[in-house]
Amino acid sequence: MRRPIHSVALVAALAAASASAQTYPTRPITMVVPFAAGGPVDTVARILSAPMAKSLGQTVVVDNTVGAGGSLGVGRVARAAPDGYTVSIGHWSTHVVNGAVYALNYDLLKDLEPVAMIGGNSMLVVSKTAVPAKNLGELIAWVKANQAKVNVGTAGPGSGTHVSGVYFQNAIGAKLQFIPYKGTGPAMQDLIGGRIDLIVDQMSNSMPQVRGGKIRAYAITAKTRSPAAPDIPTVDEAGLAGFHMSIWYGTWVPRGTPKDAATKLNGAVVTALADESARKRLGDLGLEIVPREQQTREALAAHHRAEVEKWWPMIRAAGIKVE
Ligand code: MLT
Repeated sequence: MRRPIHSVALVAALAAASASAQTYPTRPITMVVPFAAGGPVDTVARILSAPMAKSLGQTVVVDNTVGAGGSLGVGRVARAAPDGYTVSIGHWSTHVVNGAVYALNYDLLKDLEPVAMIGGNSMLVVSKTAVPAKNLGELIAWVKANQAKVNVGTAGPGSGTHVSGVYFQNAIGAKLQFIPYKGTGPAMQDLIGGRIDLIVDQMSNSMPQVRGGKIRAYAITAKTRSPAAPDIPTVDEAGLAGFHMSIWYGTWVPRGTPKDAATKLNGAVVTALADESARKRLGDLGLEIVPREQQTREALAAHHRAEVEKWWPMIRAAGIKVE
């Protein structure tokens, strides 16, 4: 008996889908970092890319598409072909805050699908070494006395460093000058060079320079000290009680990406996060990896939505805007 035409087409489509499921990925995958090279997102992407490539059997190419607080790089992925070959890596500011401070031409929740949550890190209040303060109390006094000329580096409007800097100036009752960069990689170079005074920076970005004596750290924005920097006091210990902030990281693909590709990518991130060398490198920078049960696609979807619902009203009420 002859098979009806539509069932032949269906069988062919299923065969093609199953072939693609078996073979993905067949070419390099691009992981889009929305900030400059040398900064914290770039560092996390580069640490994870090698073990991810090993588990996927394809190169993972890190691409820095920068500008507008990371919103350009995320937008590039939101509009990319949903084929599993373009991945967005970012964090609380790029995937939550930006939706409240920019008029984005994409929807952070509807145009992206979760791959995996990675982990997070607290901020460090850091200054150039020439600042004449030896602890957070002295730093705050110096900042307030010199506020008209204190320059604070940020990774652009809406970035983690910008929101933290605004939070810091409000917490100490000062008005500071924010200097935007394309990421905290280049901002850090200017802090080391003494061209800016302060950054309220992700710990992972500052720690190598703190250890090298190139910048000075005053406090960590966490309730407890970090095992990666046990000598740095918490903000509560150092005199700025309750100034807590931490930035969580995740990975996403464009909405409509085949489930098998998103699932394989999730498996690659999970494998990378279990890799001993990657864990050590992230841990040394003060990045805490989320427990295995939070590395699922579902956990990231729920967390992402909850963070949008929590922060958008707060950010809008605080009046944090793109200037
Ligand atoms: C970066 O990678 O440069 C930072 O994550 C930017 C930021 O402060 O949000």
